[in-house]
Amino acid sequence: MVLDVTDPGAFAAAADAARDVTLLINNAGIARLGSLTDDGALDALRDHFETNVFGMLAMSRAFAGSLAVNGGGAILNVLSVASWVNRPILSAYGVSKSAAWALTNGLRQSLREQRTQVVGLHAGFIDTDLVRGLEVPKATPADVVRQAYEAIEAGAEEVSTDELTRQVKAGLSVGIYLNGTAPR
Ligand SMILES: NC(=O)c1ccc[n+]([C@@H]2O[C@H](COP(=O)([O-])OP(=O)(O)OC[C@H]3O[C@@H](n4cnc5c(N)ncnc54)[C@H](OP(=O)(O)O)[C@@H]3O)[C@@H](O)[C@H]2O)c1
Repeated sequence: MVLDVTDPGAFAAAADAARDVTLLINNAGIARLGSLTDDGALDALRDHFETNVFGMLAMSRAFAGSLAVNGGGAILNVLSVASWVNRPILSAYGVSKSAAWALTNGLRQSLREQRTQVVGLHAGFIDTDLVRGLEVPKATPADVVRQAYEAIEAGAEEVSTDELTRQVKAGLSVGIYLNGTAPR
């Protein structure tokens, strides 16, 4: 099906057509280069939120009823190391992924009673069109997908799919930033 997660008619039609769903993967996302002080930063942030946050919530709400009827099932939200580290090159994207992380944690609580597992998947760079122009080490999509399914099968609430992302997550609790420094 063609589906725009920002189009209420489209996600309602998808949910209606797929009432047998047991797994929803919120993978749709946009990432535009830019800092929060650029011209047009407010519009850029709104665009990122429309897809990366409101789209994720809308899809989750649209499919929650069928997931409940089908035994609970699972929702996996594709997040990012940018949920935890915000860089000027991808700042609006990072803000939206931080919000999507909070959204994921909120959905987990809201859907606990209907026994829907809600998983947040955090990744560094993955070799897709999104980062085609960036010369950085990248994971393969297949490796990320494998870890996504393993996390769901293991009943996990969160998975970080590469070493850098795991280090950043671990650093949150001790306040170590990505460049190795600690806050004063
Ligand atoms: N690549 C990375 O390094 C990386 C790292 C961490 C997290 N992620 C996350 O991984 C997810 C997938 O991204 P990707 O790397 O596969 O990027 P991608 O190659 O650019 O693919 C993004 C996908 O999202 C779809 N999409 C965008 N807006 C949409 C909308 N409004 N409704 C429905 N679909 C929409 C696109 O569909 P169309 O092609 O039809 O526009 C495309 O299929 C995203 O959430 C991204 O933030 C990526």
